Amino acid sequence: MSKIDILGFGLQKANKKISNFDLEKKVDTSDEWIVQRTGIQTRYISEDKNTSELGYLAAKQAIADAALQPHDIDAIIVATMTGDYITPSTACMIQKKLGINDKQIFAFDLNAACSGFMYALFVASELVDKFDHILVIGSEIISKIIDFNDRNTCVLFGDGAGAVVISKGKHEVYSYVNSEGNDDVLISHGLGLTTDYEHVNDQSHYLYMAGNDVFRFAIKVMQQAIEKVLEESGYTMDDIDMIIPHQANYRIISHVAKKMKTDMSKFFVDVNEFGNTSAASVAIAYSDAYQKGVITKDSRVIFVGFGAGLTYGALLVDGGKENVVE
Ligand code: ACO
Repeated sequence: MSKIDILGFGLQKANKKISNFDLEKKVDTSDEWIVQRTGIQTRYISEDKNTSELGYLAAKQAIADAALQPHDIDAIIVATMTGDYITPSTACMIQKKLGINDKQIFAFDLNAACSGFMYALFVASELVDKFDHILVIGSEIISKIIDFNDRNTCVLFGDGAGAVVISKGKHEVYSYVNSEGNDDVLISHGLGLTTDYEHVNDQSHYLYMAGNDVFRFAIKVMQQAIEKVLEESGYTMDDIDMIIPHQANYRIISHVAKKMKTDMSKFFVDVNEFGNTSAASVAIAYSDAYQKGVITKDSRVIFVGFGAGLTYGALLVDGGKENVVE
């Protein structure tokens, strides 16, 4: 079983805040519909920075919060499905921006759609024996693949980045990660022109989503994944300080809370401000919860997510008072 410490947090918002009222002017929708069906009021869209730049700014904050220097970082994992380029990876772009070029460093991107940060944290937690300080970033400019004429998707998503620095430490990690091998209900064929021969010029790089199917899937697997990590750890919901769920829709989170007979106050929610930032969502929510003082670096938290693929899973990081070094 791996044991980690969370050393630092960072969060970078994209530059342009867009309200539901702004979207009312573009597509046939209303603030009332969006709030009632999703809980989303605003989202941020990046007009001046690419995925690596948002990730870099979040990473810089996380490194500073950890009281480290960029040179102390030994591995970089970036969860994204909207990287700047096909290659080099966004992780290598961020490494360059951080100026870490004279030491051994392990850097790569991971695509698990909206489960990305949770998958990346799982991978990082398995690598802490090998690398001292691992930067785990979720960064996404999902607006690259959103059709702003499609009311079914454009109201749901936003851009942004979150980051943490982890090391080997005192908090046990319990994990459950899974994937269904599905390519029907959530799919984007590629970024703009970098699409495959079957989908050239057919606009199929825009994200397509069978919303109701994803909704039902999300509720089922979020509960399953939380129960798996609780069972493995021997904890109950009462022992958990905070659940950091993927921020796709307030109704999905509240359905899970209701089914698990748990008060909504145990689920951190910021989808109202950020919308669904895909692989960045859990990273942003984790850092947001920390910056708002809702959790500490030693809180016992569960991350739970789902996304295209269909990927899903949960991670329980065992903080708790008995683990806190005074
Ligand atoms: N404004 C107004 N009306 C709308 C809008 C909108 N923005 N979008 C859809 N509608 C309409 C639909 O056209 C439909 O109209 P109709 O009945 O005339 O056909 C009606 O509203 C109801 O649509 P539903 O799809 O039944 O609405 P629902 O309550 O299911 O909410 C939603 C839709 C918000 C998409 C929901 O299904 C959902 O959140 N699903 C999960 C999505 C999700 O989590 N995606 C992220 C996955 S992560 C990743 O990897 C990218």
